[in-house]
Amino acid sequence: MATRTPLVAANWKMNGTLATIRPLLHQIKQGLLSADNPEVTICVPYIYIQEVRDVLQGSKLSLGAQNVSEHLSGAYTGEISAPMLADFSCRYVIVGHSERRSFYQESDQIIADKFMKVCAQGLVPILCVGEQLQEREAGVTEQVIARQLNEVIHKAGIGLFENAVIAYEPVWAIGTGLTATPDQAEEVHGFIRLQLARHADAIADKIRILYGGSVKAENARELFSRPDIDGGLIGGASLVAGDFLAICQATR
Ligand code: 13P
Repeated sequence: MATRTPLVAANWKMNGTLATIRPLLHQIKQGLLSADNPEVTICVPYIYIQEVRDVLQGSKLSLGAQNVSEHLSGAYTGEISAPMLADFSCRYVIVGHSERRSFYQESDQIIADKFMKVCAQGLVPILCVGEQLQEREAGVTEQVIARQLNEVIHKAGIGLFENAVIAYEPVWAIGTGLTATPDQAEEVHGFIRLQLARHADAIADKIRILYGGSVKAENARELFSRPDIDGGLIGGASLVAGDFLAICQATR
């Protein structure tokens, strides 16, 4: 089995102002100075990308975005393209977050287009998948995840997953304080790896699959100890330096 370097990704969502993100970033950067930390990336609102890039320069932390246009350029008022993100040294880009799927009606097809645009710039997509509560209760979790994954594999090709990350975020666990149990999460992570292995064993073995949904300092260690959970995508707890640092340390 490949050794996969753990990755912890902060997703600040639409939170913060300069007054709050400056001290937060400083504390996170200071807290991650020692060598034995996981890889860490901070996915920030577009408008703070330049500010955060400047602060992170020379550190081991990388910069990420929370979304990207499915188009390369053109008359798409208000949108940001993958080449623009590349211009500002973004390394990771979250695509297909459940909030984008539900509030902005992003389809699997649009998400596949975004995934491809990110890869074409040499950036790393963090492709989010996850079922809603009714879907879990109806026993169709695996069908939902398989559809979300397969639409992207079909359109983008399995080869692009060589340089991608997947995040399993059960929608019912996002921002609710309800976390999937380590067993529930591991079951879906194993399923995702199996789906990928049907196309390419080596990619399935190598790809990092993050868990997201109410990860906290208290539950992170047990989640990250599971064999198919390679780190986390952290929302609320990434806005509190001490909590986020504790989560990063839980990968050890
Ligand atoms: P919470 O950690 O706030 O539940 O959010 C998870 C998430 O959506 C990260 O992308």
